[in-house]
Amino acid sequence: MVIEYPEGATPIDPDELEGLKFKHVTTREELDHLEQGNIQDGLVWLQRSKETDILNEGFVRELHKRLFGDVWNWAGTFRQTEKSIGIDPIQISVQLRILLDDARYWVENDTYEPLELAVRFHHRLVYIHLFPNGNGRHARIMADALLMKVLKRDPIDWTAGYDLQEMNERREQYILALRAADAGDIEPLMHFISAE
Ligand SMILES: Nc1ncnc2c1ncn2[C@@H]1O[C@H](COP(=O)(O)OP(=O)(O)OP(=O)(O)O)[C@@H](O)[C@H]1O
Ligand SMILES: [Mg+2]
Repeated sequence: MVIEYPEGATPIDPDELEGLKFKHVTTREELDHLEQGNIQDGLVWLQRSKETDILNEGFVRELHKRLFGDVWNWAGTFRQTEKSIGIDPIQISVQLRILLDDARYWVENDTYEPLELAVRFHHRLVYIHLFPNGNGRHARIMADALLMKVLKRDPIDWTAGYDLQEMNERREQYILALRAADAGDIEPLMHFISAE
């Protein structure tokens, strides 16, 4: 299979490709299509789920499995390889626990406005880069789940009419805003998600 990636995407390495459940896939378009169908089913599961206790490792992994588990056999399991984005894989579970503790604390203490809380959570989650792939999509949906199920707000309009998976001006803005957040400035990401 020939896969071309947009900037800021994590290339899938050969071991991880082994985990593809559909052996006939030959193009990125086919793969995108399969993943998109799986994500739709995952979103239906999320909508129907009454669970509000989502800031825990079990839920974070289950959500990834629901979004990608029909396509990839490693869905819901943490990455074991180094990527160009993300922390050392042996640090993942500890850093996730710290993030989830922080997020619960922010919720209990109203540390940030709901949108800023969700955006900060999103950035920290993609920064850790829990899984071999699907981190951007999972972390956007996780931030929306936090808004809807815990903070009782509307989800974020991440795409604003663009396809965020492809290289276009919106994705470019998104990746730049994440890099600014990596450097400690959350403003560009707040601007990115606020309706203009
Ligand atoms: N500098 C960065 N700092 C933090 N996060 C980043 C940075 N660059 C990219 N990311 C995040 O990593 C994601 C790409 O990782 P990955 O390929 O695992 O996710 P994906 O869901 O397959 O991608 P996509 O967002 O294209 O759907 C980006 O969407 C973005 O959320
Ligand atoms: Mg990807």
